[in-house]
Parts: sequence; C-alpha cells; structure tokens
Amino acid sequence: MALDLFQEKGIPLEKQLFTWKDLVRRPYSKLDDDAFTRTRVILMNGIEADALRMKHIFARLSRELRPHLALVRRAEHHQQTMVNWLNPPDQSALETTLGFEQLAIEVTASVAIHEPDPYLAQTYRFGMLEDFDHLYRYSALYDRVEGKDPNNLIQSYSDIRPGRPTAVEHRHPLDDLRRPYDHKTADPLSKLHAVTITAAEFMTHDYYMVVGPQFADPVARQLYAEIASIEEQHVTQYGSLCDPDESLLEKWLLHEATEVYNYSSCLAYETNPYVKAVWQRFLDYELGHLHYVMELFKNLERRDPAEVLPRTLPEPIAFKEHREFVRKVLSQEVDLRSNGPDYVDASRLPPGHRSLVYRDQLNSEGSPTETVAAGYHWRPGTELAAKAERMGSVLEGRRLQ
Ligand SMILES: [Fe+2]
Ligand SMILES: [Fe+2]
Ligand SMILES: [Fe+2]
Repeated sequence: MALDLFQEKGIPLEKQLFTWKDLVRRPYSKLDDDAFTRTRVILMNGIEADALRMKHIFARLSRELRPHLALVRRAEHHQQTMVNWLNPPDQSALETTLGFEQLAIEVTASVAIHEPDPYLAQTYRFGMLEDFDHLYRYSALYDRVEGKDPNNLIQSYSDIRPGRPTAVEHRHPLDDLRRPYDHKTADPLSKLHAVTITAAEFMTHDYYMVVGPQFADPVARQLYAEIASIEEQHVTQYGSLCDPDESLLEKWLLHEATEVYNYSSCLAYETNPYVKAVWQRFLDYELGHLHYVMELFKNLERRDPAEVLPRTLPEPIAFKEHREFVRKVLSQEVDLRSNGPDYVDASRLPPGHRSLVYRDQLNSEGSPTETVAAGYHWRPGTELAAKAERMGSVLEGRRLQ
C-alpha cells in the first residue's frame, strides 16, 4: 500500500541520533552487489548533499527559518555521511564515475517514463541521451587507461555506446534554460521529479570537479573538464524546471517529500540487507523532517501542506534497466537540439546560432570526449582481449599451415 505522507510521522528530529561507529558501516561490494545498489548509494548521497546545500542557501535568505534549518540540516549532514561511506574503498574514482552515469541514465529514464507533463518528459529524455553518451566516453577511458571492462560494473543493465555526442552537447547558457512547471497547477510528481534529478546532476557535477584533477593522464583530465561542463548545463536545465515563485518553505517542504520519496523507492528495490536497513531508517528520519516542516508551513505560512504535497507517495522510481526505452529515444531524438526552451531538429538551427558559435569556440582545439573514444566499441573483456583473440587466430592459422 502506498505510504500516506500525512499519517506516517516517522522518527522525530530529536531522536535522530548517530555515533561515529554507527555512521561508518560495512560498504557494499563493488562487484558482488547489484549495480543498482551502487547507483542508489550515489543517488542518495546526491539527494542529501542537495538537502544540505538548499538549507545553507535558505539560511542566508531567512532570519526566521535559520534556527529550524540548522536543526534539520545537522541530521541531513550525518545522513549524507552514512550513505556516502557505504561506497567501498576499492572502487576507484573512475569506477564511481561509471556508477554516476549509469544512475543518470536509468533514473532519468524512469522519471521520463512516469512524468505526467509532456514538456518535462521531453526534457528528461533530452538530458538522458547526453548522460548516455558520457557512459560510453568514460567506458572508453576505463578500458584504455585501466585496461578493465566497464561492464563488470554496469552488469549489462545499460548499453555502452554513443548517444548524442558530447562534443555537440555544449550549448549557450540561454539554450539550457527551460520553462518551469507552474507550482499552482503542476502534478506533485512533476515537482518531486525535478528536485530529484536536479540534485543528482548537481552531485555529478561536484564529483567530477573534485576527482577530475586527481588523474595523471592528460586525456582523462581533459575528459572530466569537458563532461563537468555538461553537468553544469544539466544542473542549469533541470534546476530551471522548478517554479521560482514557490516560497522558501514550499521548496523546503517539497525537498523533504522528495527525500521521503527517494528513500522509499530505494527501499522497494534494495537487495543488500545492510544497505536496506539504512534506507528504512532514513525513510523514517525523512518523514520526521517532513512533519517538522509541515508544522512550520502551517504556523509560519498559514497554509495547508495538502496544497503542495500528494496524499500518498507515487509509484517508486524504477531501479531497473530501461534498454528498450533508451534505444527508442536514441533512434528518434538523438538529433534534437535546443533553441531557448524549445527542442528542434539540428537541421533547424540557423547557421551562426549562439549555441553553434559557443560550441565551435570551445571545441576549436579538439574535443577530449572525441579523442578518448576514437574508434572505441565496447566488447566483453576490453579492447585488448579482442586483439589477443585476433593474434591467437593468426598464430593458430600459421600452425595449421
Ligand atoms: Fe536527508
Ligand atoms: Fe548529467
Ligand atoms: Fe530531510
């Protein structure tokens, strides 16, 4: 039965306690656990980081909310710690990166499929094809620099092949802004979607900005710089879907509801029992936050939370493969570009369009995403395995002569 957001009160804020030992738990296994366990940990770390980010920005803007924000924010910080420390120490930055892109593909696909507003759904499909291409570019780097097969981590849930080529994803900032949903009329699910995907993309951007300079390989350093720029575009795009006319408290309420929704989705799919216990606990914590903010909404804003929140949670985000959907979108929409908030076929962009000028200038000394993947086709066991196979058959042929 769907969870009733008004009946379920969760755990009150004052009972949300941690110890250092409790915070640092047994990590998942990078190869033995399901790939979606990794993507869920990456997603929830991003959602918590955004909970923290939003509460800091709001504290700069509101004297009245400041103490309330400080109280809830401390819990968010410790939640983020517990979630992020579920990542295993033997998972390299590049391996975690593959997890980020797989997450972006599969969660955005699920959101695109369930999004009730056609324009918003189009936006998710548009962005999804770009992250799909990033998975391919990083896979090429992984195969060529680390000599490993990315599919050991992807576990055959997602295709590893080009999407909308990253080199053509670079757009003028004004072509990344979208039309926001209307907070008075939008389906609550549209709001939860926009908050979720914006948070995930923000974390992706921040992660690439931190780990990019840690690579020694010059192509890797450039690759992260190029893809981080697209993630900034994605944050701009998805962030602009949220209605700027919502009050701070309304945004806060939606954010807590989004956290509830995401933990509840993770719980519905989790296969690792240790990780599942964390999702259950934090679902209860988030319900505690939600009810804390519902009270503020009633007392400070004199509004009914039922104006903003759905009564029960929508169907969970689907942590599963969406290969057929992604392939179909790829075949039909790969050539879309944006012109302001609208999507048009590439052939409809007039020569000299600001995004073409912007992109040509950035790519004028080459594109690292093109360099890293030149001639790359994913194959099981890496490119070298294919080479070894060919060598083997040549030698075999000689022996037979
Ligand atoms: Fe949280
Ligand atoms: Fe992205
Ligand atoms: Fe929260």
